[in-house]
Amino acid sequence: MKRERRTATMNQIVVTAALLAMAALAMVPGGAEGARKASVKKAVFGKLDGGTVVHLYTLTNARGLTAKIMTYGATLTELRVPDREGKFDDVVLGFDNLAQYLKGSPYFGATVGRVANRIARGKFTLDGKEYTLAVNNGPNHLHGGLKGFDKVVWNATPVKSADGPAVRFTYHSADGEEGYPGNLDVTVIYTVTNQSGLRIEYTATTDRDTPVNLTNHSYFNLAGHGDVLGTEMMINAGRYVGVDDTLIPTGELKEVKGTPMDFTTPHTIGSRIAEVGGDPNGYDHCYVLNGGGHSFSLAARAYEPATGRVMEMYTTEPGVQFYTGNFLDGSLAGPGGFVYRQHDAFCLEAGHFPDSVNHPNFPSTILHPGETYHQRTEYLFSTQKLLRSPYVKGVM
Ligand code: GLA
Repeated sequence: MKRERRTATMNQIVVTAALLAMAALAMVPGGAEGARKASVKKAVFGKLDGGTVVHLYTLTNARGLTAKIMTYGATLTELRVPDREGKFDDVVLGFDNLAQYLKGSPYFGATVGRVANRIARGKFTLDGKEYTLAVNNGPNHLHGGLKGFDKVVWNATPVKSADGPAVRFTYHSADGEEGYPGNLDVTVIYTVTNQSGLRIEYTATTDRDTPVNLTNHSYFNLAGHGDVLGTEMMINAGRYVGVDDTLIPTGELKEVKGTPMDFTTPHTIGSRIAEVGGDPNGYDHCYVLNGGGHSFSLAARAYEPATGRVMEMYTTEPGVQFYTGNFLDGSLAGPGGFVYRQHDAFCLEAGHFPDSVNHPNFPSTILHPGETYHQRTEYLFSTQKLLRSPYVKGVM
């Protein structure tokens, strides 16, 4: 009897100690695996044909959130965040070797510019002069042209920041590059913040009037793998940019209300995707954010029910291109041999509206000498318990 009681007390002590240890770990999202010192590490990722070395920077915050960014295209290659059990996974599509990026990547994680998205027929008139840009998407100019900012090697230096480990990337885009006027100096700072965010901050200056519209083209999959049709999405936008069948804006800003484009309340990506149309089918539209580009505000929120991962996106930009990986066709495979199929990821590309340079009614993308272009976009990660909201349509 006495002996049994003693065992019970001992058990109690063991259980209490275990609970205390668990509570301590729970204070650090990601548990033991997550707790560490913030760091920035630099390694060689590969070499271009001409011998230029491409470096890979690994940024880890004290919670274990890790981002890998390479100097080729100032590209995010990997982003590891915990799920609701504290298990880390890579939530962006990418490759683990430079050769695959060089062979052809659909802008996986890349910094895109000088002007992201499409410019009709690669033409625009500025200060009375007509410019002709490189054409690389049917008759149109897409994502900066044949050799955009995603295909050049950037300079990189780690920077001291109280907000978390950070690296600054810089690139000088010469006058005439891909047909654009003026020398443009661009800086992109990636920070893995102490609050579990990936912050991307851009600045640029020019010596002649030129259009500038920078973005990051990460393909997110909050489950790590599989399709994203079950991911619940909210986009803080009442309107979107109407486009023709080559995805060039018609000039009209259309109401989302009553259409499959409406994500003002959370819907799974898959619930109405078949009704969106397009060839290939899916979302590939620029949303007009309610924040209007005037302040740093919530643009979108994605929740993946199986893992509990939540990603909130904040930006200073007026628009976000919501793209559901429609052009992925299973011909590319990432680390571990996982094949990237249509709708296996979604992009939330912050920016101005497509073809703004040809639409005076859209917010201007023209940067003048003496001004500084500035954009701040942040993807913030957390987890959510398995809740079934009666307001979420399309959840099985
Ligand atoms: C953007 C475009 C898409 C597609 C992808 C890259 O999101 O809007 O149409 O070109 O980039 O494949």
